[in-house]
Amino acid sequence: MVGQIAKRRLGASPVEVVPLGVGCWAWGDEEYWRYGHEHGPADAIDAFDASVAAGLDFFDTAEAYAWGKGEQILGALVRKSGADVVIATKYAPLAGRGGAAAVAKGLAGSLRRLRMPAVDLYQLHWPDREEAPIAAMMHALADAVDAGQARAVGVSNFRAGEMREAHAVLARRGIPLAVNQVKYSLLHRSPEVDGVLEACRELDVALLAYSPLEQGLLTGKYTTDRLPPGERAQVPWFAPENIAAAEPVVARLRAIAETHGVTPAAIALAWLLATPGVIPLAGARTAAQARDNAAALHVRLDDSERAELDAAAEAWRVGG
Ligand SMILES: NC(=O)c1ccc[n+]([C@@H]2O[C@H](COP(=O)([O-])OP(=O)(O)OC[C@H]3O[C@@H](n4cnc5c(N)ncnc54)[C@H](OP(=O)(O)O)[C@@H]3O)[C@@H](O)[C@H]2O)c1
Repeated sequence: MVGQIAKRRLGASPVEVVPLGVGCWAWGDEEYWRYGHEHGPADAIDAFDASVAAGLDFFDTAEAYAWGKGEQILGALVRKSGADVVIATKYAPLAGRGGAAAVAKGLAGSLRRLRMPAVDLYQLHWPDREEAPIAAMMHALADAVDAGQARAVGVSNFRAGEMREAHAVLARRGIPLAVNQVKYSLLHRSPEVDGVLEACRELDVALLAYSPLEQGLLTGKYTTDRLPPGERAQVPWFAPENIAAAEPVVARLRAIAETHGVTPAAIALAWLLATPGVIPLAGARTAAQARDNAAALHVRLDDSERAELDAAAEAWRVGG
């Protein structure tokens, strides 16, 4: 099964991945994902091992995830397993941190916590034009590549125009912009209407789709009577009216999942996988979730299934 999964290059960079990344935000994060409450270290180990066993090789973290603890956990998991995986992390351009001049120190901190000499992909977590002008930040990322501390670089939460600026600066340094990591799911269609998906395709930048399961809503397990634990229950996509509005989409996912013998989560991911240029990053708290999500790589949605899902989620596409 593992050998059958074709890898994809991240944009024009030298980094190749199995095109379903594992989002590691929940591993270590108590505040939002309630690590240490509903799940803990043993679950993270199991989820990591199950991901690797299912053929996944791309793991996304950030220094901002549990303020460094996320990187420590992921580094330890990689060392313990000995797996040959692709590691992505992100620089957080926090206010007052020092803009581009602080990137080298930030990356050194990430490498220390991961206990790795280099990362495969180093991303700017979000744009901040005032304190972290795009050109200066891209030069700082390019310096990381030149120093051998990152094999590829990317951005996150960048609009189309910001991506074009970043791409142009890096191009002058002879370095491709590998990825733009943005929110994209059946229920969050902004990249289709705000020019980001188009710019990704035109510039040969991989679109890494984060929150592809709408943080659990698209799995069908949350209802107006059964909300997720903790802070997640307060975010707009878990507002009762949004959960109710999403029901027809979840119903379509369930029906299609049944015919393929997989879960609704796998179908939501397969829908993204069928979109050229897109690589979903799915969070998994448990081994079972990791296995369910990895099954998406083996699902081929036909045209009518994709059309059904598109039709059910049309309101979200128009709304962006
Ligand atoms: N660049 C950015 O600004 C940014 C922002 C957000 C996320 N990200 C990245 O994208 C990754 C994924 O996004 P995300 O974690 O926000 O959302 P997500 O992948 O849409 O949802 C993940 C959550 O859904 C539930 N879940 C996952 N698979 C499931 C399954 N098969 N069955 C049932 N429930 C399942 C789990 O939570 P429960 O079991 O608790 O429901 C899991 O933690 C993150 O880990 C991070 O790497 C980046």
